[in-house]
Amino acid sequence: MTDDAAREAYFREGHRAIRDYYLVDSASPYRQSGRTGGAKHWEITRCCIAEAVNADGDYLDLGCANGLLLESLLRWCDERGFSITPHGVDFVPELVELAQQRLPDYAANFHVANAFFWQPPQRYRFVQLLLDAVPPADERAYVARVLREMVASPGRLVVSIYGQGTSATPEVAVETLEDLGFEVAGATACVSASVAWIEKTGADLESA
Ligand SMILES: C[S@@+](CC[C@H](N)C(=O)[O-])C[C@H]1O[C@@H](n2cnc3c(N)ncnc32)[C@H](O)[C@@H]1O
Repeated sequence: MTDDAAREAYFREGHRAIRDYYLVDSASPYRQSGRTGGAKHWEITRCCIAEAVNADGDYLDLGCANGLLLESLLRWCDERGFSITPHGVDFVPELVELAQQRLPDYAANFHVANAFFWQPPQRYRFVQLLLDAVPPADERAYVARVLREMVASPGRLVVSIYGQGTSATPEVAVETLEDLGFEVAGATACVSASVAWIEKTGADLESA
């Protein structure tokens, strides 16, 4: 566990860095989701996340930025035969507003909050998170709480790790989750993204 002052400093610095980088170019929806480049680069660095979706249902993106990933997943999942309902949380209000403008039919599903502390109004068939949303010492507690309090049963927690370039492999996310003590059900990778998921079933409802 991180002490409260160190955790607050981590969130404060993360919030400042995100605002400085994501909000400087209002013409680029990719930049507002943390990526350089255009549509093609966006697609090859995120498309594999849709492979984690194996059913219709609610999809919560913890750290949703401007909602571009959710908008893309709506299309990519539809192409794979699955219908998702997007939900998002982000601690930068301007990004949540952009997500609501991007997905106006789902505006009520977006919340301004710190995902580490957020109390969800419901559970979700799919929840996606990035571990760097919390200090390293809080990663295990964060994953455990999201599994326990946010993922439906049955449901799936999808963990993405970005930034390994063209050599990204599923093993990066698998080994990270296993090192934290979680059993991995599946994994994939695309350019710059390693993605693994944890399955939640009725049997582990109490133990998660
Ligand atoms: C790299 S973007 C991810 C966008 C999208 N989810 C994706 O995977 O492409 C990370 C987002 O997480 C948000 N974020 C980081 N830490 C957070 C926290 N503790 N609570 C809520 N949002 C957080 C940032 O504001 C930023 O918009």
